[in-house]
Amino acid sequence: MKKYVIRGGKPLEGEVRISGGKNAAVAIIPATLLVNGVCIVENVPAVNDVILLTKIMSELGAKVSFLDKTTLRVDATEIHTCSAVSELVRKMRASYYLIGVLLGRFGKACVGLPGGCDFGVRPIDYHIRGFEALGSTVTIEHGIVNAVAENGLKGASMSLDFPSVGATINIMMAAVLAEGTTIIENAGKEPHIVDIANFLNAMGAEIRGAGTDTIKIKGVKELHGGRYEIIPDQIEAGTYMVMAAAVGGRIKVSNVIPKHLESISAKLEEIGVTVEEDDDFIVVSREPGTVMNKVNVKTLPYPGFPTDMQPQMSTLLCLAKGTSIVTEGIYEHRFRYVDELRRMGAKMDVDGRVCVITGIEKFSGASVCACDLRAGVSLVIAGLCADGMTEITNVHLIERGYEDIIEKLKGLGASIGVVDDEENLSQQVSGTTAG
Ligand code: UD1
Repeated sequence: MKKYVIRGGKPLEGEVRISGGKNAAVAIIPATLLVNGVCIVENVPAVNDVILLTKIMSELGAKVSFLDKTTLRVDATEIHTCSAVSELVRKMRASYYLIGVLLGRFGKACVGLPGGCDFGVRPIDYHIRGFEALGSTVTIEHGIVNAVAENGLKGASMSLDFPSVGATINIMMAAVLAEGTTIIENAGKEPHIVDIANFLNAMGAEIRGAGTDTIKIKGVKELHGGRYEIIPDQIEAGTYMVMAAAVGGRIKVSNVIPKHLESISAKLEEIGVTVEEDDDFIVVSREPGTVMNKVNVKTLPYPGFPTDMQPQMSTLLCLAKGTSIVTEGIYEHRFRYVDELRRMGAKMDVDGRVCVITGIEKFSGASVCACDLRAGVSLVIAGLCADGMTEITNVHLIERGYEDIIEKLKGLGASIGVVDDEENLSQQVSGTTAG
């Protein structure tokens, strides 16, 4: 079983380059299915979710190949099925985008209900209501979503009950080739929603207002091929910023859009961490040993503090002086990782969507298990600051969303290594000690 082994306590120094946005990539890749031509997508992160999605796309008949590590070529001119029901589809949440794109281009879709990180009930009812408003009939049987638009999709106006990221993107993608104009009110405003709209517009779509709460999509007959570069990953950047704050040291986080990181930078400054912004990089520094202030955090839709940074920020707050309160505003159950952090000494009390964190001096190394992507990376953060050795299992979940995390952390001076089985463990640990 693959594990990460970390010897904590080494300050982070140097530069880390942020990869392309995972959540943008997992929508833009299916969006290429709307295009009658060849799309070249640049800055694609080399993460497991992307690999999985390229396999699903190939199963549908798209010709998918990597021109280099981060440049993907997709030719979706000939798609031979609108049915995506394989085991692969159930493995990731973002496979729900296949419903929107297949319905949008071919008027029908048959897609297995998505999996992904489990932090409570994650329905897709807003997506379905949106597809129905566009004139399709949607049924769910035996875990498979069947959507059909007998007479093609027709533009419509709708208002989301909640500014859901996935529903906004999915409805926007379905509406691109619909007849007439679609208006989505109370739309999500996350940076990757704007990125997907920019991608679609670059291929000939007519979408206005992405990034505001009203998005207007004027249907066009066809999308053409083209080239597009994905934005940097907001959450990967935020994660390295929090790592530097937690462990101490000074790192340059490069290839970022600082505007997308404002809510994270603001919280770090409130905690007492120094954050310096430039055009496309951010420098984060904290002298090891300096006191960090308690703060309260509530996760909210963008531009609020992102839920995908909640576990990392809560981990950092374990090391702040006093009592911090973290409120989860998006998901019902996103504190499952707390039990693992407690094994490392954290003092965290959870009541529903609220976690009360009492500051401790230090984490202590332990054997822990990642329960989802962001929870897993939070254990890496704790391990990097802990006394002694930390072993993390279930790390494939971390690799769903963090490209080359081990190499990037080694580049910043961390003592971290990977072992693939018990036998190698002792050898690797001594290697890890050497950094
Ligand atoms: C996306 C991100 C995920 C992030 C989340 C919130 C991707 C692939 N994933 O997930 O990393 O944590 O945004 O920023 O981009 N809801 C419903 N019905 C629906 C849709 C959503 O009740 O049809 C609820 C959800 O259960 C959740 C809330 O709305 O409580 C927000 O979910 P949503 O914004 O849709 O998240 P995802 O798109 O699934």
